[in-house]
Parts: sequence; structure tokens; C-alpha cells
Amino acid sequence: MLQRKIAEKAARIGVVGLGYVGLPLALLCGQKGFRVTGIDSNQSRVISLQQGKSFITGVSEEVLRSLLAQGRLWVTGNFATVSRCDVIFVCVPTPLTADAKPDYTHLFLAVESIAAGLRRQQIVIIESTITPGTTMEKILPRLEGGGLKVGQDFFLAFSPERIDPANKAYSLGNTPKLVAGVTPDCQRVCQEIYTQLGIKVVPVSTPTVAEMAKLLENTYRDVNIALVNEMAEVCHCIGIDIWEVIKAAATKPFGFHPFYPGLGVGGHCIPKDSAYYIYLARRKGRPALLAEQARKINADRPVKIMKRLQTILVEQGKALADCQFLFLGVTYKKDVNDLRESPTVKVMELLVLEGAEVSFHDPYIKKLRIGNRLLARIKLDEGAFARYTCIVLTVPHSCYDVHWLKAVCPQIVDLTNVLAN
Ligand SMILES: NC(=O)c1ccc[n+]([C@@H]2O[C@H](COP(=O)([O-])OP(=O)(O)OC[C@H]3O[C@@H](n4cnc5c(N)ncnc54)[C@H](O)[C@@H]3O)[C@@H](O)[C@H]2O)c1
Repeated sequence: MLQRKIAEKAARIGVVGLGYVGLPLALLCGQKGFRVTGIDSNQSRVISLQQGKSFITGVSEEVLRSLLAQGRLWVTGNFATVSRCDVIFVCVPTPLTADAKPDYTHLFLAVESIAAGLRRQQIVIIESTITPGTTMEKILPRLEGGGLKVGQDFFLAFSPERIDPANKAYSLGNTPKLVAGVTPDCQRVCQEIYTQLGIKVVPVSTPTVAEMAKLLENTYRDVNIALVNEMAEVCHCIGIDIWEVIKAAATKPFGFHPFYPGLGVGGHCIPKDSAYYIYLARRKGRPALLAEQARKINADRPVKIMKRLQTILVEQGKALADCQFLFLGVTYKKDVNDLRESPTVKVMELLVLEGAEVSFHDPYIKKLRIGNRLLARIKLDEGAFARYTCIVLTVPHSCYDVHWLKAVCPQIVDLTNVLAN
């Protein structure tokens, strides 16, 4: 019944959590002809979305406004509306606690609110990243607590989000999606919805396999980035250029995928997801030593970068405490406006602890808190550079004019290698 309703686009969609994952999904559902209710607990986010303002780079305000105007998308903070939805996507944050354990506060709150109004012929699809076993052991019992039975009365599936913000080649619509239903009927209904959204579905036998696959995807990146970060230091010791080494290795047409060194790993995904894997492995008594070491290497990178900047300045006869730094790019990644786990911010905080002054420019960020100081973005013009002892290119946002930077600021410390090309 529900499958047919989805195929006829008569099903009402609910998206819980309108962030980097939930908002693009809600818009895609609306564009594909579904009526969508977007529910978020952050009232100011709800109000700005209701006014047609997108806070995410790459999410079109034109599409948002058009869907709101057509009545295809309705944004609310009222959780009671979720019970009216036939398909409920859960896209809430799943961060880490201070001691690097999964923090499921948002997830459990959302699931318990859904459970309170759960009715027959609804499907709940978890897209948030979670540790293997969570769908079956933690989410299913909460949903079945009211007496409804999964696979008969309602449906449950796990389908991890793979969105890569600012990736121009791969978006939500053209990235295949792993789908794992708790029962065969859950699988069928879940596959139907993604198929109707035009997304290629890859069926997976159980939610636990899909949960681990998501952790593999991101731990793989954490480990490989750690490898090149470590090798960058070894190359520095022997006086060769890691970027040239990677370029040379990447000419091999098989068995090698290039990763690049940097200030560390940021965002709401890679560092957190490999920490989830590390936590799970330790809890099961089989520590994931490679992933643990990689996490440590990447987490230590801001300290290494701070020390490298210190060495550069000492060679010029300057002490950190007397220096004014300007950082170009502070978000965790090129062309996104997301500051979560930004390694540049960590480097800036370390420098401030050493007594240095820090300033920044970033096209996506107007104000930045570093320790107890609130910094305002500087105006980037030729005259700006003269005020600083050290200018560091940290995030190569597309809007930075490489030729102009090279011409007006030849002494710039380029941690991204874009100026070399
Ligand atoms: N950001 C990415 O690139 C990315 C990629 C793949 C997977 N993920 C995963 O997707 C999930 C969501 O990540 P995100 O980056 O979209 O997070 P986000 O912080 O951008 O957005 C989450 C939204 O959920 C809202 N929220 C929190 N608790 C809620 C509740 N109980 N009810 C309703 N709304 C609630 C928040 O207010 C916020 O607007 C996480 O598990 C993350 O690991 C993120």
C-alpha cells in the first residue's frame, strides 16, 4: 500500500533535521513532485528557511523559494506534524561526546518523537551516521515500544547519506545510495522512495552492514590522508616535495588513489566517523589500531603546522608572540561555509595561545570566534597584506585569484599547493 502511494507520488515526506544533509534531500523530494514537511528543532533555522533563506553553500534559494511558494515544501519546528508524514527521513546530527563516544542525544530525541506518533503504513529511514548495530539495537526497540511491529505495521531502513558538499561532479541525485531495510518489505518500500527520487539504489543485506560500509568509506579517507600527512613530514626531512611525489605516484593507472596533505581533517563526517569505528572496535575488545593511529596523526596536524610556521618565522629572526598572522580560508573545506572541526581554526587557536595575533579572510565567514575573541573578516586588498608578519593560504576557495596572490604577496606560505601550479 505504502509502496504504491510512493510510486504515485501521493506519499507525504517528512525530513527531520534540515542541515547539510536534510535540506538538499527535502528540496530534491519537492522537486521530484512530493509534498514535503521539513522539521527542525532550531527555531532560527526554521524561520530563515520559511523566509526562503538558505544557509548552505550550493543549496539554491531559488529552488527553496519556488517550492515554498508552490506549497510543495512546508518548514516547521512542530514535531507533531511528523505523524502526518508517510515517509520520514531522519537527518539529525550524530556528533561525538567530549570523550570521543557517539553522542546520540539528537537521534534518540528525534526517534522518540517519531515513536510517540507512529502509525501504520509509515516508513522511517535513518540517514544520520551511526555505529554498526544502532538501527537494530537502539532504534528499532524505540519504534516498536508502542506495540506496532516492524515489517507488518510500519517499516524501518538505514540508508547512509554520502553527500560531499561543494562537489560539482557528484551530488545527492547522482550518487548511488546504500539501502538496507530491517525486513524484505522495509527494503522494498525504502528502495521505492529513492528510485522515485531518481537515485540509483544499491541494496545491502542488513542495516548493520550498511552502517559499517559508511564507516569504512570515511575511515578509508582518514587513514589515507594520515598516510600522506605523515609522508609529507618524512619528505620534508629528506628535502623533497610531497606534492611532486604524489603527482608521480598518481600516474599509475591502477591500485593507487591520490590523497593530499593538509592542516588536518575537518567537517562533521570524516574525523567523527572514524572515531565511531574506533569506539566500536574498542568496545568489542578488538582495537582498530591503524585507524587509531591515523586519527592521532590527523588530529595532531594543527600542532605540526603551528610548529612549521614557528620555524619559518624563527629563520627570519622573529618570535611567534611578536607576529601578526593573516589566514586566507578558515572553513573546513574549499567552497563550503561550514566551520565544524576546521583545522585552520585549531591552528589559529594554538597561535593565540602562543601570544600571536591572528586575522582572517574567508568569502563564506564574516565573524569568527578564536578563544575569547570575536574576529571580523578583513577586507582583502593589496594594502591589507603589509600589516601582517605572515600570510598563510589555508583553504584555496575558488574565488581566490591565484595569479593576483602570487603577484601581490610573494612571501605567502601556501599550505594548499595551489600557488605552485
Ligand atoms: N555534512 C555532511 O557532509 C554529511 C555527509 C554525510 C553524512 N552526514 C551525516 O548526516 C547527519 C546530519 O549531518 P548534517 O551535517 O546535516 O548536520 P547539521 O548539523 O547540518 O543539521 C542537522 C539539523 O538537525 C537539527 N536537529 C537536531 N536535533 C533535532 C531533532 N531532534 N529534531 C529535529 N531537528 C533536529 C539541527 O537543528 C540541524 O538543523 C550526521 O549524522 C552526519 O554525520 C553528514
